[in-house]
Amino acid sequence: MAQTETTYPRWIPLLGGLLGSTTCGLLLYAFSVFIRPLQAQFGWTVPEVAMAYALICLIFGLVTFPAGRMSDKYGPKIIVLIGSLLMAFGFFMVSTIKPPTPEALAAGEKATSQLYLLYLYYGVICGLGGGMVYLPPISTAPKWWPDRRALATGFTVVGLGLGSFIMAPMATKMIAYYGSALPVFKYVGIAMGIMGVAAALCLKLPPAGYKPAGWNPPVPAGGATVKAYRDYTYEETKKSPQFWLLWLAYFCGSFAGLMVIGLIAKHGIDAMSLDYIRANNLASLADIPEAVNIGIAMAAAGAPATLAIFNALVRILIGPLADKIGTKQIFVVLFALQVGAMLVLFPAGKSAALLAAAAGLIGWNYGAMFTLFPATLLSYYGASAQASNYGLLFTAWGVAGFCGPYLGGKLQAATQSFFVPFIVSAVLLALAVFIIATLKAPEQKSA
Ligand code: 2OP
Repeated sequence: MAQTETTYPRWIPLLGGLLGSTTCGLLLYAFSVFIRPLQAQFGWTVPEVAMAYALICLIFGLVTFPAGRMSDKYGPKIIVLIGSLLMAFGFFMVSTIKPPTPEALAAGEKATSQLYLLYLYYGVICGLGGGMVYLPPISTAPKWWPDRRALATGFTVVGLGLGSFIMAPMATKMIAYYGSALPVFKYVGIAMGIMGVAAALCLKLPPAGYKPAGWNPPVPAGGATVKAYRDYTYEETKKSPQFWLLWLAYFCGSFAGLMVIGLIAKHGIDAMSLDYIRANNLASLADIPEAVNIGIAMAAAGAPATLAIFNALVRILIGPLADKIGTKQIFVVLFALQVGAMLVLFPAGKSAALLAAAAGLIGWNYGAMFTLFPATLLSYYGASAQASNYGLLFTAWGVAGFCGPYLGGKLQAATQSFFVPFIVSAVLLALAVFIIATLKAPEQKSA
């Protein structure tokens, strides 16, 4: 009995998750604000800078697997500690990359070796650190909150939305103030280190068999006469077909979401500009007055901002619902809504308000995945091997993060339209709806 009791306040691991995921939010989703300033300072092309982002998504997503395995073995604290130091170091080191002189830039010098440093510091080192910070709290918090598992999971991922929401305007202001993106990496890198270490210190596993005071696991129908069940081991989980169907659904949802997140502002700018040309009988884009161009860019920027807000809010709000009515029904509805959002996104581009509404819906459905997938996994396989299980499942996001935005850009360039990438997203999401709607929970393992 003493094993299951502890005086450790169970909100502390939630705080650790919130802090850790906020550092990941600072790291990941606001990267687009750095693209133009880095391009101007180093002479890189947009695809060259964007490759750093594809790389960080891939490495961040893939490293969650060993990070989860190690967290199950050594506990979450040490993994998050090492991860935050790596992440902060990589981010800080970007600030030390020396730009070419303005004369060299004007003469067309290509800062190729510096580009590889960006890939190394941001793509590889921050990616490694980020995955190690992101994963362990997601499996730790629900162990402290068996009575509110989805809500606890939501807490450990809400910072992804929050961090990017803070970072985009903050970095934009800092870049304008310093006239360079590099100091942002320096100061935010230091802040990431402090926040990440604080997050690690908040994390610890509850004693085996922990139950919050006054709470008992729901008794299955049949009462005391039914068999006792145990959690799946990691080896058993990865042999279950349901696990790989979830992987595929996660891949489809992430692929579509990340592809659209990367393209949505540009889609708005293109659609509103074409609409302006048509309405004013102009011959080409070059005839649009500069003031109108600025207005269009600002109107289109409402879409990623709305997407970010809803991407953050849903992670917390969906948890209590999932705890109450189960994840499957919510999942099917949200994925189906996402198919609809992808289909209206193309025509919505002409109107700033419609585009922002579609973006909000997309952010909502996308963000929900990061609470609902871990919660589904917990309900299928139990909490014992959740770090390893979810680490492996999350590799779907890493692979999607590498190829979704890349393929989206290629399809848009090849067809000179956003129509095809949005339709591809809708088809993938429809596949995810089918998978989730037909998926049956695996049989429980007898103790
Ligand atoms: C998330 O948004 C990192 O994409 C992952 O939680």
